[in-house]
Amino acid sequence: MDWGMENRMAQLIQADGHCLFLPVDHGYFQGPTRKLEEPRKTIEPLLPYADALFITRGVLRSSVDPDKSKPIILRVSGGTSMVGKDLANEGITTSIEEAIRLNVAAVGISIFVGTEYEHESLLNLARLVDEGEKYGVPVMAVTAVGKELEKRDARFLALASRIAAELGARVVKTYWCEDFERVIRGCPVPVVMAGGPQVDTELEVFEFVHDGMQKGAIGVNLGRNIWQNDYPVAMIKAIRAIIHENASPKEAQELYDSVKSREATS
Ligand code: 5RP
Repeated sequence: MDWGMENRMAQLIQADGHCLFLPVDHGYFQGPTRKLEEPRKTIEPLLPYADALFITRGVLRSSVDPDKSKPIILRVSGGTSMVGKDLANEGITTSIEEAIRLNVAAVGISIFVGTEYEHESLLNLARLVDEGEKYGVPVMAVTAVGKELEKRDARFLALASRIAAELGARVVKTYWCEDFERVIRGCPVPVVMAGGPQVDTELEVFEFVHDGMQKGAIGVNLGRNIWQNDYPVAMIKAIRAIIHENASPKEAQELYDSVKSREATS
């Protein structure tokens, strides 16, 4: 691996081989979604606990101070919205020159396997990999499901993750699912887990993150289940403990409860 690529990968994946990416890119198709209405207010308290931020260039420039940043994974696909025709119809929104100007550690793009726009989104990934490899910028591929959340099973996610790896993604972001080991086994590059919409309890999040790590994920790219929680700092600290300190779900819950009670009384 060339020095630039290796250096960028090392910014993302920590010395223990694990990582906690914090995605705050949702506005690129969801607009001012709940608890991310004012990105700076959401991001600032969480930044110390994140290994990298997944973010668009607009929110990066407006809401993150360049002298207090973490490594950046720049979201470079988009062109759709929640109220538009089809979320899968994405294009590349940001050039590799802009990514380099912003000094990013990686770029991220969604692929929409099994949709009408499968072909376009996969060629977008392949082109982005060509550009990224030229300049030593790794590509994270996002195995998107749009509004079809029920697609998140091992068969589909293994298929989409493997295709992303075959096309040259250096990291694949997918969802945790039952039989997650099948996804990991079939994907020869590092896998991080997203969370999807907020689930009912914190413990559910701790359990799936822990299970995914045991089965070979290197970490998470987990957004709403952190920053839509009423105690986001407690949440990110607890998830960080699973990822970097091998905490059990029970230990993570205890940590969450103790940070939460301190915050609630302060
Ligand atoms: C949104 C994304 C997010 O980065 C990804 O889905 C992770 O966030 P969450 O845990 O909230 O699902 O790709 O477009």
